Amino acid sequence: MDNLNVKYCNVNFNNPFILPSGIITEIPEHRRAIEAGVGGVTLKSLTFEKREGNPLPRVWKYDCGMINSVGLRNAGIEDGSREIGEFLKSNKNTPVIVSLFATKVKEFLYLVEKIVPLSPQFIELNLSCPNVDDEFGKPLGMEKGAAGKIVKQVKKISEKIPVLAKLSPNVNDIADIAKNCEDSGADGIVAINTVGPGMIIDIEKRKPVLGAKKGGVSGPGILPVTVRCIYEIYEAVKIPIIGMGGISKWQDVVEVVMAGATLVGVGTATYLKGMKVYDELKNGLSSFMAKKNIKGLAELVGAAHF
Ligand SMILES: Cc1cc2nc3c(=O)[nH]c(=O)nc-3n(C[C@H](O)[C@H](O)[C@H](O)COP(=O)(O)O)c2cc1C
Repeated sequence: MDNLNVKYCNVNFNNPFILPSGIITEIPEHRRAIEAGVGGVTLKSLTFEKREGNPLPRVWKYDCGMINSVGLRNAGIEDGSREIGEFLKSNKNTPVIVSLFATKVKEFLYLVEKIVPLSPQFIELNLSCPNVDDEFGKPLGMEKGAAGKIVKQVKKISEKIPVLAKLSPNVNDIADIAKNCEDSGADGIVAINTVGPGMIIDIEKRKPVLGAKKGGVSGPGILPVTVRCIYEIYEAVKIPIIGMGGISKWQDVVEVVMAGATLVGVGTATYLKGMKVYDELKNGLSSFMAKKNIKGLAELVGAAHF
């Protein structure tokens, strides 16, 4: 499946499939995705302090996907950066994206300073987590001024590591925020984080299913939101896009790539179909390309715009 090789920000990926942040929580466990043949892996977002996460249940499947409110459960930057160092040492062949979350610029800079010496292939700034509102205030990426400000400061200290801005669909104009990130020096855009927040009520128990009551919606039901967001971002920026949100079939992959994504994240589908979903998508995409005489994915990126 040579036709699936992709270059993103000058980094080679064997195939365009990425494990999105947070789908696996523990850092060493991300190896499972690599064994399943992903092109790249994004680690769970790290915060300054260790976070236990929101009350259980934190994830819930429903007919069209999933709702979650994990609340950024993670080891915190001290232990987390040590684990990341070990993970990177034992994984030389698959590009790793380290995801960071903070609500203050200063805190983001502290996290980036800790990660840069580890030399991951990418740093992703999670400017869009919907599940930490109450404790931290609104996520920073929801306003374009704030998103750009963080990117600009981070770029001053990120050295050669490409910086990606992960954006939320729950805004008036995602393309405007993406453009502001690009103007501030971002090397790529990752879109989308979960949609919502939403709520599901257990009609027998007469209460919301999630411990935190509301959470972000992911999985097949949000695909049209993803496609629209990627399409709009592609028209606004020149930097490459990692598209994610609801991809579960090879046809979804083609749609998101035609909308403008160079790489695609597949997360919730691994809960619905298992890690074998990556093989299914690779086979489907590769056969589609062969049938249409498409030699490389680059030929398809943004094809729906012309
Ligand atoms: C259980 C769960 C935890 C998540 N945790 C994070 C996270 O820590 N950081 C982040 O940027 N996105 C997080 N996300 C969002 C995903 O990375 C992704 O953007 C979203 O789920 C859409 O893709 P999907 O429909 O393929 O899952 C999480 C999603 C789920 C389902």
